[in-house]
Amino acid sequence: MRRAALFAAAAGALALAGCGGSADAGAELSVRSSYMPQPVSADLAAGFLTIVNNGGTKDELTSVTSDAAGDVTMHDTVGGAMQEVSSFPVPAHGRLVFKSGGNHLMFEKLKRRPRQGQKITLRLSFAKSGPLTVEMPVKSATYNPSTGH
Ligand code: CU
Repeated sequence: MRRAALFAAAAGALALAGCGGSADAGAELSVRSSYMPQPVSADLAAGFLTIVNNGGTKDELTSVTSDAAGDVTMHDTVGGAMQEVSSFPVPAHGRLVFKSGGNHLMFEKLKRRPRQGQKITLRLSFAKSGPLTVEMPVKSATYNPSTGH
């Protein structure tokens, strides 16, 4: 009897902690499926990733930087033409997807040409959440994330 009561109290405390935690944290961001196809050019590369928000507050990706490139810009693709954008929304309980043919990152003024098997470190900055660091693997030039090669 006494033991059961202790278990119930412990479970209640855990539930409360979980609840309070997510309310305070706002957006809860994590990064999945990042990759850079090995670039054909020595000074320009593309990068793709998915930002998942498990929190109940929307956020905004406001900038991307990398030691590997002098400049990283964010682009979307409308009607086959890409254009630079200054920020991307990350919806509450949603995701922001960068993929081939759609939203993408452009790495310009590369310090050295990325090779398959290397990793590129990037830093994502958000309007509300703290920055995230991503180790983006360099894949083959023709890598397709849906088939894995
Ligand atoms: Cu572009």
